[in-house]
Amino acid sequence: MARRILLIIGGGIAAYKSLDLIRRLRERGYGVRVVLTRAAQEFVTPLAAGALSNDRVFTDLFDLDDEREIGHIRLSRDADLLVVAPATADLLAKMATGQASDLACAVLLATDKPVLVAPAMNPRMWAHPATCRNMRQLETDGVKFIGPNKGEMAERGEAGTGRMSEPTEIADAVDRLLGGDASAMKKAGLLSGRRVVVTSGPTHEPIDPVRYIANRSSGKQGHAIAAAAAVLGAQVTLVSGPVSLPPPEGVETITVETAEDMLAAVRRALPADIAIFAAAVADWRVAAAADQKLKKTKSNSAQTLALVENPDILKTIAAAGPKRPALVIGFAAETENVVAHAQKKRKDKGADWIVANDVSPETGTFGGDRNTVHLVTARDIEGWPPQTKEEVARRLVTRAAEYLQENQIDV
Ligand code: CTP
Repeated sequence: MARRILLIIGGGIAAYKSLDLIRRLRERGYGVRVVLTRAAQEFVTPLAAGALSNDRVFTDLFDLDDEREIGHIRLSRDADLLVVAPATADLLAKMATGQASDLACAVLLATDKPVLVAPAMNPRMWAHPATCRNMRQLETDGVKFIGPNKGEMAERGEAGTGRMSEPTEIADAVDRLLGGDASAMKKAGLLSGRRVVVTSGPTHEPIDPVRYIANRSSGKQGHAIAAAAAVLGAQVTLVSGPVSLPPPEGVETITVETAEDMLAAVRRALPADIAIFAAAVADWRVAAAADQKLKKTKSNSAQTLALVENPDILKTIAAAGPKRPALVIGFAAETENVVAHAQKKRKDKGADWIVANDVSPETGTFGGDRNTVHLVTARDIEGWPPQTKEEVARRLVTRAAEYLQENQIDV
């Protein structure tokens, strides 16, 4: 069973960040159920929260259906951790005085589980003696806190302490509170029972025993994908070209040199439910690599290398008939017409999805630690915000897990 978070969203402008928090928590393998206060519904809708959590959203203490089917007592105890984000000054005051006038408060009063609170309010409200008093009381009661951070507020010209922590900071705090134990998550994860194959890094195509053709791929994105799939419980085989990264934890890593070796290793790793091709495979290899080191001679001072095309691993596996994984995902690095090129690449290669990486100079992808990607599928195109390679990896494997579930592809 996935570990479960009951996320209580209070009524503040930071509520919009809590939608992102739902996604981040799910990417880390948590089940998320949402309670929205009445005020929160002024900022986010139950529909949006429900679509992201993939569960019913609870809003009202006196909704008879809820009381009959679940009830606030069970709601409060079914979770492993309660997270209040954003926690407004009002919500903190109600918690500190043990009120039970609405569903959020009643659940917080009835729970026997740990509670993590992410306050968000105007800096003057945060600094007010009443709020300080409430915070001290809640700390004495064993409530855990994350933030608030310092910075600009939503209101113009207001700055100070009171900004809600960022969703990744809150998700990190959740990991810490629940032990951050990847092996427990693994058993519970969205991809348990699934096999995933990932390619990563460059390939080295020999010219002679000491020289080769290569590229600058670091392997960071492919390795992050393999690690993220393992955290979600998949049995992962990572087929990697030569890189200077350590093999990810909990992943079977096979190191290869050439494109032909990479294809052979991927074939051996089948069958799989998901195959993700993140390697920067050399398109060409030397037609006849020399057995001995090539020497300079007076007569052949200018050498010419004859090249032949390498197999396209993605295309080959996408056409592997009964052995084809249910979901085949490729990558594309584009500097212009990103989506159009990726759509064409998806069809040409027979992939289900293409992750199109916009590497045009404006995005700062080269040399930066963030990727700006579009996920191109048969049905639509999703633009993702600039994210780290780890974030892209988590989001991609979560989406892949959801795809298998939605298409009822059995384990
Ligand atoms: N790929 C592969 N085997 C190859 C070449 C590419 O598996 N021999 C995979 C890559 O891992 C990636 C996708 O195909 O998933 C990239 O396709 P490619 O046509 O190489 O695209 P770009 O690298 O973007 O290059 P270009 O469009 O310039 O050809």
